[in-house]
Amino acid sequence: MRFPQSFIEQVRLASDLVPLIMEDTVLKGKGDRLMGLCPFPDHTEKTPSFSVSRDRQVYYCFGCMKSGNIFTYFRDQRGLGFVEAVEYLARQAGLSLPVSEAKKFQPVSDMEGLFGLNEKVCEFYRHQLDSVPLSHKVKTYLEKRAYIKETIQSFKLGYASKGNTLLKFLTEVDRKRALHLGLLNKNDRGEMYDTYRNRLMFPILSSRHQVIGFGARALDDSLPKYINSKESDVFHKGRSLYGLDQSLRFLRQEGFALIVEGYTDFLSLWQGGIKNLAATLGTALTDDQARLLKRYVDSVILVFDGDSAGIKAGERSLPLLLSAGLEVKSVILPEGQDPDRFVKTQGIDSFKILIQNSEDLFFHILRKKIKEMKERRGHFLSLIDEIAPFLGSVQNKPL
Ligand code: UTP
Ligand code: MN
Repeated sequence: MRFPQSFIEQVRLASDLVPLIMEDTVLKGKGDRLMGLCPFPDHTEKTPSFSVSRDRQVYYCFGCMKSGNIFTYFRDQRGLGFVEAVEYLARQAGLSLPVSEAKKFQPVSDMEGLFGLNEKVCEFYRHQLDSVPLSHKVKTYLEKRAYIKETIQSFKLGYASKGNTLLKFLTEVDRKRALHLGLLNKNDRGEMYDTYRNRLMFPILSSRHQVIGFGARALDDSLPKYINSKESDVFHKGRSLYGLDQSLRFLRQEGFALIVEGYTDFLSLWQGGIKNLAATLGTALTDDQARLLKRYVDSVILVFDGDSAGIKAGERSLPLLLSAGLEVKSVILPEGQDPDRFVKTQGIDSFKILIQNSEDLFFHILRKKIKEMKERRGHFLSLIDEIAPFLGSVQNKPL
């Protein structure tokens, strides 16, 4: 830790959680215990179940079970890091940072600035999309993919035009941030240029509705098909899932999530009325993503393209999904199809039938392995070795 414990304690004592939370929700009550509607954006409610203790300076939500103190509130509700929360509260309380520490903090992670810039750039790309004529390539592309206006708006799709339009739009300070976020790049001569050119932009938002990154799709067959934001202080591919900002309440409502592999698969199903979705960002599922999902649902259905790579990916993610305490089913699409194409060619109702018939992923893998074993006339016991990793990760549950 970069602050002395004594300083953190000083900051904590000088701060008050109540007015801070009152910026986000109305709290009512007498004395120590105050109640209000839960201020966390992923928990919407009509009757107050969020309680705050003035004396103990802690909060607890009887609805979504979130709890913590002023620092966790900053982290979980405002999306600030611990260090920034301490800095911010110290400033509010008129406490100066310990001198040596203050120096070290010159290049402080500037999360607020980074989120702010991402937001601004998201708006910029949106505006560009609005401004181009109907005959423009990006508009015909959107039409070809059959995205309706509501989808384009709720998912804040945008357009990065040709040339250095973003670079020209940004101030000097923002350019530095943009380099960190991968929105701009530098060439060998040290000149900055726009990373995303002539691409359809899919902003990636966190469940707290902050713009954390972008996926940028080419409008034709040029490669790479997608450019995704690089890892940065605000973007961690392995910890994020696309679309959660919109789909969270549907995850809760349905109790399970469909996991797809791309932006366009997500949006096609969404438009077809299936909304309890999350999409990975071009990588295999991680522990962090599994735990993130477990906060909202008890089971997941993995939707794979019908190629062997998809099923392999399923085998890899099964143990970590099971370890997170999730029940895992899978839907395997016909060879060469992804959800987007499947829905376009066979219709959303056929897809719904696939979901209804989805089967336990472990059984699926087991059956496949038994078949393979029989084919190669292997020994039954060798199977045990292969399935052991899955068994080990199942959480103990009374039958
Ligand atoms: P796919 O190649 O399956 O693309 O990649 P897609 O989602 O079907 O996209 P469309 O329908 O052709 O437009 C799945 C995911 O892998 C990541 C993206 O996140 C994409 O959504 N990806 C793919 C990349 O990051 N880079 C690439 O070049 C391709
Ligand atoms: Mn596709």
